[in-house]
Amino acid sequence: MEYTDEIYDYIERHIDAVPAELARLERQSYLRMVHGRMCSGHHQGRLLKMLVEMIRPKRILELGTFTGYATLCMAEGMAAAGSADGRVDTIEIFDENEDFLREAFAGSPYGGMVNLIIGDALEVMPGMAPECYDLIFIDADKRVYPEYYAECKRLLAPGGYMIADNTLWDGHVVNPERRDKQTMGVKRFNDIVAADPEVEKVIIPLRDGLTLIRKRPTD
Ligand SMILES: C[S@@+](CC[C@H](N)C(=O)[O-])C[C@H]1O[C@@H](n2cnc3c(N)ncnc32)[C@H](O)[C@@H]1O
Repeated sequence: MEYTDEIYDYIERHIDAVPAELARLERQSYLRMVHGRMCSGHHQGRLLKMLVEMIRPKRILELGTFTGYATLCMAEGMAAAGSADGRVDTIEIFDENEDFLREAFAGSPYGGMVNLIIGDALEVMPGMAPECYDLIFIDADKRVYPEYYAECKRLLAPGGYMIADNTLWDGHVVNPERRDKQTMGVKRFNDIVAADPEVEKVIIPLRDGLTLIRKRPTD
């Protein structure tokens, strides 16, 4: 089934609406950022919120904050699950986003649950304690998804979840002629996850593809 505008609108009318400040944030992402479409948006944002409510993590890590849309959806999910003391650590490399992000977090009832880290995820993560997160949302540089995976596995508690965005990469993953660095990064990531016996995995073909990965609990 093709994800046409008609289907998009139909879904829009049949799922939960977003809080006003999130709708504003999505609009601002398109108005003030060059690549506004990188923002998770309504459909994926509601899914992230619901997954967080189901998984009930106490600590979340996000790689790639952009305008903070997914960050706030996940914080909202934590609050809805009764973990108002939960925390979302989120890493963004592009320091010019910082003022926008501080404003977005200040304008949200869940902004106090967010810890923004400006830096390169691959440099920040090695300084973090092992097994300290219950959920990690991978959504930064597609070229280095395999490197993120290795580090995220170390940071994830047994039984914890990763959610990786863009894992179908506009369908390029099934095109053998696409050999650019981003496509190759996503393909390598998908192959590594598929071959890893230490995790369970499913791919949801929503938007650009979301992979849900569960690190098997230790006995
Ligand atoms: C697709 S956007 C993230 C969208 C956001 N997670 C959401 O769902 O609304 C990717 C973001 O990752 C950031 N990024 C790219 N490489 C990074 C890195 N090495 N470390 C941290 N952030 C990075 C980009 O600057 C960009 O803002």
